[in-house]
Amino acid sequence: MEAVMDKTDKLVELLERLNAGEDPASVKEEAQEFLSTLKAEDLSFAEQKLLAAGLAPEDLRHLCSIHMEMLKDEVNKMTANLEEGHVIDNLVKEHQMMLGFLDNLEALNNKLQKQSEYDETSDVYSEIAQNAQNLLDAEPHHQREEQVLFPAVVAHGVIGPTKVMVMEHEDLRRMKRDVRDLANDVKNMDFVEFKNRVSSAIKMLVMTLRDHVFKENNILYPTSLDVITDDAEWNELKKHCDEVGYCKWGKGKIYD
Ligand SMILES: [Fe+2]
Ligand SMILES: [Fe+2]
Repeated sequence: MEAVMDKTDKLVELLERLNAGEDPASVKEEAQEFLSTLKAEDLSFAEQKLLAAGLAPEDLRHLCSIHMEMLKDEVNKMTANLEEGHVIDNLVKEHQMMLGFLDNLEALNNKLQKQSEYDETSDVYSEIAQNAQNLLDAEPHHQREEQVLFPAVVAHGVIGPTKVMVMEHEDLRRMKRDVRDLANDVKNMDFVEFKNRVSSAIKMLVMTLRDHVFKENNILYPTSLDVITDDAEWNELKKHCDEVGYCKWGKGKIYD
């Protein structure tokens, strides 16, 4: 336990330096070397300690982004050990689908930016709205996190990261609605203004949701597998997840 506390203090120090404005590049090398010796759980405890010390959840994002870069292969290793249909397995697969909708939105935005005026024969506006709607239809995924997974992780003493994730869910709901409602409004707006607003709304959504998915796949989900070690508890959580429900775009694709 003492070793964990030392590591937590070291993380707190690194994060405080980042938040105080020290050049991330110089802190980064030191942070990466240090983080490679850590489990996701240690990081979560450090984040929690920082929140308890009165730091705003937004301030933790620096640390998350450094940690993110180091963990790209970890998610594959994690899911390789899980049964099909496990709570975490479904959540990771749903993330894959969401990332696909984000790729679509980026491609559609590129297509839109090439148009010089409104084209009533073009599907690009309705396709943007549809992909944003698909992301809004991910709500059962977020509800399973908020109602089932996060409370279980909190009950095991990991509090900070779930607060950050819930805050981001709220931001993301607004961003998805912004993209959808804008795309549906194409005929009521100056076209140049429309293109600019759609472009910035899509870029904001893509960046924020990719970052969110990465943090859950690489920090929060591994942490939950570290702290919830009893299969019976996972089976109970799975039942609660079934009650909350699943995303309609996953039927026949990632479930069953
Ligand atoms: Fe989430
Ligand atoms: Fe998620």
